[in-house]
Amino acid sequence: MTSPTNVTRENDAITTGFPVAGKPRFESIEAVRQGLASVDYLADEGIAGVVYLADRLAKPVLVEGPAGTGKTELAKSVARLTGSRLIRLQCYEGLDESKALYEWNYKKQLLRIQAGADQAWQELEEDIFSEEFLLARPLLEAIRSPDPVVLLIDEVDRVELETEALLLEILSEYQVSIPELGTVRATQIPLVFLTSNNTRELSEALKRRCLYLHIDYPQLDRERAIIETRVPGISEALADQVARIVRSLRTLELKKLPSVSETLDWARTLVVLGVESIDAERASETLNILLKYQSDINRAAKELAGVELTD
Ligand SMILES: Nc1ncnc2c1ncn2[C@@H]1O[C@H](COP(=O)(O)OP(=O)(O)O)[C@@H](O)[C@H]1O
Ligand SMILES: [Mg+2]
Repeated sequence: MTSPTNVTRENDAITTGFPVAGKPRFESIEAVRQGLASVDYLADEGIAGVVYLADRLAKPVLVEGPAGTGKTELAKSVARLTGSRLIRLQCYEGLDESKALYEWNYKKQLLRIQAGADQAWQELEEDIFSEEFLLARPLLEAIRSPDPVVLLIDEVDRVELETEALLLEILSEYQVSIPELGTVRATQIPLVFLTSNNTRELSEALKRRCLYLHIDYPQLDRERAIIETRVPGISEALADQVARIVRSLRTLELKKLPSVSETLDWARTLVVLGVESIDAERASETLNILLKYQSDINRAAKELAGVELTD
């Protein structure tokens, strides 16, 4: 696991106290923004800036914000942009070490023990706790990968507080300690994105290790541009109308505000239905694509009936 470059990095880390970033992936914040746009992800200055810094500082990014605003997509897009492999750990309640980090391949170990019945135990033990019997799960896989990696730890707020602790070593030192094997260190520092939908507060320890990025609903211009990029065949005028209506609906007190993904679904629906311009009636007929509660739909329909949609 230790190569000459590895040793230097380790020594640097000891002197500075921080992981040492590899060769910069991006030239400037603007280069990040344009690069992301080239893979159809429209970032604002804030998003591009944090991605740029994450690379330069070798720090993970914690992305928070409402559902459907492009948090997961950001990590995927950065992977596409940098030509990195995307390794994803989807979090859920009950996720444990054996699914996140690694586990021993018990079946194979048993077979090995049976096959070597006449061998000394010590010899066997050394053998069955070696690489060959290790099943790497996403976090270890990302650390061990010889190729560039973007690690996405998605919806981290779903795991229990105690499980969060599993992540701390990786996030601050880019290494995994395996008692039987030793410490596995990253040979190249992955770009790490953690996303959270804010269903609970994350620990201070986790937050401290990350750069923080809040992605909110986009500004009008950016949402319009996202619609034009992601919905083939839509006219500029319709994209503009959709963006404006969604924006106005977000000012209402709804149970669940429409997200970017719902905006896109709605825009696609209108294109499929051959709608060129939305009037209140058309909008009300298709509100079920945009909103997911009947009370919200009623509320929005009432609101839309009261405003002039076309000028
Ligand atoms: N900035 C953006 N540029 C392009 N598409 C976006 C952007 N933000 C959101 N989207 C679209 O919205 C969808 C939902 O985003 P996603 O990343 O899944 O949301 P979440 O924040 O819940 O992880 C994506 O599949 C993508 O099509
Ligand atoms: Mg997501």
